[in-house]
Amino acid sequence: MKIIIRDSKPDVFAEAARKIKTYINRNKNQLICLAAGETMPGVYSELVGMAKDGEVDLNSVFYLVLDEWVGFGYETKGSCRQILFDSFFIPAGIAEDRINYFNGLESDTESECRRISSLLAGFGRIGLSVLGIGVNGHIGFNEPYTKQSSTCLTAQLDKVTRSVSAKYFGTVTTAKSGITVSMNEILRSHEIIAVVVGQEKSKILYKTVNDMPSMAVPSSLLRLSKNCTIIADSNAASSLESRS
Ligand code: F6R
Repeated sequence: MKIIIRDSKPDVFAEAARKIKTYINRNKNQLICLAAGETMPGVYSELVGMAKDGEVDLNSVFYLVLDEWVGFGYETKGSCRQILFDSFFIPAGIAEDRINYFNGLESDTESECRRISSLLAGFGRIGLSVLGIGVNGHIGFNEPYTKQSSTCLTAQLDKVTRSVSAKYFGTVTTAKSGITVSMNEILRSHEIIAVVVGQEKSKILYKTVNDMPSMAVPSSLLRLSKNCTIIADSNAASSLESRS
C-alpha cells in the first residue's frame, strides 16, 4: 500500500483527480467504481474541471456507484445516487448508458445484488475503485464484521454509520441496511485509490495502516491489494506521523 500525504484537502482532491485522470486516459471502456460521501465531491469537481479543460474524456469509461442506503433513491438528498449524479455524472455530462448504480428503492435487494454482480462479471473485474473510509473503517457498506459471502451484499448498518449519517441527511437515517459491492470484489480491482481527509479520520487511518488486516476494520484489508494508494491530508495523517 502506498500512502501519499498532502497539506490540505484541496491538494488531496487535486492529487486524487490526477490519478483518476491518468487511469482513464490509459484504460478506455473499463469499469470505475465510485464512492459517495462527504469527501468525494471535492475530487469529482476537480475531475470535471480537468475534463472541461480537455485533459480527459470522462465518457470513455463506465461507472458504478459503489453502494446505496436501502430504501433511498435519487429523491433523497444525501443518498449515494444523489451525491454521485449531482457532483459528478450531471456536471461531467456522462452518458446514461455508462452509469450503473444499486437501486435503493428496489425492495428485493437480493435481485439488485444479482443484477450488479452480473454487470461486474461482464467486466471481469473493476478497473479502478475510488473509495472513502468511514470513521469505523467501513468501505462502502462493508461494515465491521460484515460477512463476505458474494460479489455484492446487503449489510446491516453499524451503529457508528447510523449516527454519522446525520451529516448527509440532517438527522440520523431511518435506513437499517445498505447494499454494496463486497470487500472481496473491491480487492480484486486492478487499482484502488482511497481518499481520507480530516482530523476525525486520523484514528481510523492509523488502524487501516497498522492493524492486522481483518473485517474488524474493513479498511485494513486494503493492505491486501497489490495496487492501492491512500491519499490523505496532514490532519488525517497526523497519527501516522506522530507515532512513526
Ligand atoms: C459512500 C461510501 C462510504 C464513505 C465513507 C466516508 O459511498 O462508500 O464508505 O466513503 O463513509 O464518508 P465521508 O467521506 O462522508 O467521510
